[in-house]
Amino acid sequence: MCGIVGFVGKKQASSILVEGLSKLEYRGYDSAGVAIIDNDHINVVKCKGRLKNLENKLSEHPLKGIVGIGHTRWATHGKPSDLNAHPHNSQDGTISVVHNGIIENYVQLREWLTSKGYKFVSETDTEVIPQLIEYFYKGDIVEAVMRAISKIKGSYAVGVICSKEPGKLVAVRKDSPLIVGLGKDEYYIASDIPAVLNHTRDIYLLNDNEFVVITKDGVKLLSEDKKEIKRDVYHVTWSANAAEKGGFDHFMMKEIHEQPKAIKDTMTSRIMPGKPITLDDIKITKEQIKNINKIYIVACGTAYHAGIVGKYVIEKLVRMPVEVDIASEFRYRNPIIDEKTLMIIISQSGETADTLAALREAKAQGARVIAITNVVGSSVSREADDVLYTWAGPEIAVASTKAYVTQLIAMYIIALFFAQHKGTISEEKMEEIKKDMLTLPIKAEEVLSNKDIIQEFAEKIYKEQDVFFLGRGLDYAVALEGSLKLKEISYIHSEAYAGGELKHGPIALIEDGTVVIVGATQGYLVEKMISNIKEVTTRGANVLAFAFEGSDEVSKAVDSVMYLPKVNDIFAPVLSVIPLQLLAYYISIKKGCDVDKPRNLAKSVTVE
Ligand code: F6R
Repeated sequence: MCGIVGFVGKKQASSILVEGLSKLEYRGYDSAGVAIIDNDHINVVKCKGRLKNLENKLSEHPLKGIVGIGHTRWATHGKPSDLNAHPHNSQDGTISVVHNGIIENYVQLREWLTSKGYKFVSETDTEVIPQLIEYFYKGDIVEAVMRAISKIKGSYAVGVICSKEPGKLVAVRKDSPLIVGLGKDEYYIASDIPAVLNHTRDIYLLNDNEFVVITKDGVKLLSEDKKEIKRDVYHVTWSANAAEKGGFDHFMMKEIHEQPKAIKDTMTSRIMPGKPITLDDIKITKEQIKNINKIYIVACGTAYHAGIVGKYVIEKLVRMPVEVDIASEFRYRNPIIDEKTLMIIISQSGETADTLAALREAKAQGARVIAITNVVGSSVSREADDVLYTWAGPEIAVASTKAYVTQLIAMYIIALFFAQHKGTISEEKMEEIKKDMLTLPIKAEEVLSNKDIIQEFAEKIYKEQDVFFLGRGLDYAVALEGSLKLKEISYIHSEAYAGGELKHGPIALIEDGTVVIVGATQGYLVEKMISNIKEVTTRGANVLAFAFEGSDEVSKAVDSVMYLPKVNDIFAPVLSVIPLQLLAYYISIKKGCDVDKPRNLAKSVTVE
């Protein structure tokens, strides 16, 4: 996730672009840059770090010109650095591009362009775009952009300027957002509406595969086959603040709704039907995988809960022993580690002090470390031997939601990757699992479309003092996460227990009206869970269960059920966590809590 802007008008572009980028920093902030046409020349200023660094650089090297593009980056391919920052230029410097999204076939395109004599200076997937456009340029930039885009696979919103056609800006989108702002004799492109709201409230919303050509005379929308498209002007009535949150009241709700896309992005180019799983930044060999005799998964908080899912899945699919540990415990308990140990570190921020210390401890004792993180270039990603990035985009709300589901996806990818190398599941089974996995984005959308049931339940229970979560197997892992979410943002005391533990103590707390949330998605454990449900309902508990569609036996046993679309049991956590996130959210709102910034918590815990 990154933010792009573009401007064509009569005013100087530089400050307009920077101001637009400042409204998009929530989409990425590890580097930023602008490219502006001055007569027949493109000048680029870009640098690593927050937008402030770009502003400082621009005050030292001001850029002149009335047509330009800008970018604020959240790295996916290539660490945050001056070189990897956008805009990226073509080899001869005549074409400059900003891009948001992921180019799936960039490796093949890069090889092909290299064979044609093109040299690359960055580690990004984006750089293939200006080079391809330069390759196809024969005097018509729109034609060249169209030809280049026809070669690209993946998701993109792209803005292009060309010094040979200095009054023009061309843009296109597919699976990444892009709007056009319509001012008076000036026009804008942007990833999101807030970037243009200080200048205009009239915009065009673009659809996939639509091209935009902007000159001082106006805006033209074109289809792939160059037919002009008529579009109604959309007048924005929201405040700038609401627009930044995509029309949602809070970042947390926006991020909950971004989960289908985050799941899809994290699988992109990794899980493909009929193709083996290949992972760019994981260099561990088949031999090394075969040599491993023990895996530790180590993390904190929500990331630790993703690790528990990882344990169940790796043990099931790869048949390797896995221990999951809390980083602050692991680092001080003198764990048994040698060169046959593999450690998987999970950290959204990649900067959590305890997690980093655990990573260093394991490496010092000879273990190989794979990191799962959302931040390219973070400490964890630099110190681990291998990295698997979750492509969730920046998570602003303190309570983790989309980072968690992408951590689950990363755990499944690693489990399947190991199973592929160790041959622990048949090719047929592998294909069946991948096929099911690829349905998760659409099924997550379906779960989100049923949120009213959760809102109603939240309204009934928001005054409770205590809530219990129960589950077995993977439902237990999700129960832990649901319980954490609830306490974090609603300040209701809650506990999660493995169903079988109930009779060993916690059942003493169940009385008339106690709220119990039960997960019952694991086919082989549903009967056992129904027994647990009966144990609490006979003592008066008010139970909300989540189960797959068609689980009549569960619905008979409880008052309220949240049904989830059917997937392979191993993927249930990706879907079942969504109602729990929503429940915590709605209760928090009802209680008037600060959802995005809960008391006493910080987004990144860089101290012990
Ligand atoms: C809870 C939450 C925290 C983090 C934990 C680890 O919603 O966000 O529990 O999961 O602080 O943070 P990272 O993943 O950045 O290491």
